[in-house]
Amino acid sequence: MAKELAALLMVILTLVCASSIHSVPDEEFFTECENIVQRWANSSLDVEVKDKHTLLDLLFFLHIPRTGGRAYNFCFLNKLYTSYLECPSSYDKLHFDPSIPLNRWLQVVHDDYSITSKLPMERRTSVMTILRNPVDHFCNSKYIGHIWPWKYLVPWMREDLFARRDRRNHGNFQEDKETNNAYDMKDIVIPLEEFIHSVVAYDIIHNGATFQIAGVTNNSYLEAPEVRNCAMSYQSLGKYVLEVAKKRLDNMLYVGLTEQHKESATIFADVVGKQVFLQLQALRSSFILLQIIPVAVFSFNIFLELLKAYDECSSTSRKIEARRRTSTLKRISLNFSKEARLQVPEAVLQTIISLNSLDMELYKHAQHIFEQQKYRLLQERVQVEMHKDDSFKTDSHESAPL
Ligand SMILES: *[C@@H]1O[C@H](CO)[C@@H](O)[C@H](O)[C@H]1NC(C)=O
Ligand SMILES: *[C@@H]1O[C@H](CO)[C@@H](O)[C@H](O)[C@H]1NC(C)=O
Ligand SMILES: *[C@@H]1O[C@H](CO)[C@@H](O)[C@H](O)[C@H]1NC(C)=O
Repeated sequence: MAKELAALLMVILTLVCASSIHSVPDEEFFTECENIVQRWANSSLDVEVKDKHTLLDLLFFLHIPRTGGRAYNFCFLNKLYTSYLECPSSYDKLHFDPSIPLNRWLQVVHDDYSITSKLPMERRTSVMTILRNPVDHFCNSKYIGHIWPWKYLVPWMREDLFARRDRRNHGNFQEDKETNNAYDMKDIVIPLEEFIHSVVAYDIIHNGATFQIAGVTNNSYLEAPEVRNCAMSYQSLGKYVLEVAKKRLDNMLYVGLTEQHKESATIFADVVGKQVFLQLQALRSSFILLQIIPVAVFSFNIFLELLKAYDECSSTSRKIEARRRTSTLKRISLNFSKEARLQVPEAVLQTIISLNSLDMELYKHAQHIFEQQKYRLLQERVQVEMHKDDSFKTDSHESAPL
């Protein structure tokens, strides 16, 4: 115990030193930190998932902000699970009581992976997530949004906007040239380049997806904050966090990609949607209470029905979202368009890429998993077709019905 306390103290000291000096890390502190992170990584990597393709009792949707996950939530999962079966969306803290048996079919959260350790059915939980190209992801984080990480980002942004407005009102202009690039209007909003290097960006945005999936964000339930502190203090320890995040992705039931919107939806309907449907049907037949819940909407061809419903719902919700965003940005007279994005200097993009190197790697890994999911689905379809052929032959050539 005393030894652990000493180690913790050392970490705290390291942090204080690291943040005030920023010099070459002290060998001893580094070794201590590396041990802490390695021990955590080793125990996280140890977990074996037997059949990751089978939906278990609880579906946990690890929602990474601004990846389009909201549409999955509202348009897929809400349609599949009725409110009886859905856990109250745990947008900030664990709001649901997992011990109530019916309350265990869906979890939609902005928390990080560490919350799974708080679930009584940790080992009976399937996890899914959606990832997005880190550069797009970063540029999008400047948009306005009350939940982690927005609950930190929004007030911070608001304060910054007001400070800049006050300066303008006092006639303090920093710029002499006219610019209409919303990513670079110092007088109105923090320029992208400055934002990248802000404390907030380091705390919650850079490599955010990796930290969220590894379960070591600053919103973490992990009882070992020193893991995060060490990983944040020494860049070279990031590789351990990345390994854990990759392994977690490997073990997930489903991984979607924001950029491959249509294909992701198709795979989701096939891999997750069908299994949820079957699970609910089985559940209905065993619980009288549940038979009052309408489920018949998706009875004929669950797969096509689900996709069609999703298409309609998600395009509506995208329109609403876009309208809301435009009006917010109009109020502060900004326009973060694709054209403006093209004006962001290459050097700034490169900085974003290097500050998000873990997320870049993780995204590559997710792309790889996505290809595997596609391949698996294709294989299954081929098998179904072959099976159909077989049964056709059997039917036509053998005339002895049972
Ligand atoms: C973690 O595992 C690696 C590889 O098995 C091993 O070399 C290392 O000593 C372990 N570290 C800790 C702190 O357990
Ligand atoms: C998380 O990061 C934000 C943004 O920098 C900060 O305001 C907040 O205090 C941090 N939370 C914790 C628990 O450290
Ligand atoms: C933002 O700029 C784009 C391209 O310049 C334009 O098409 C769009 O209408 C503008 N949006 C707003 C809200 O001004």
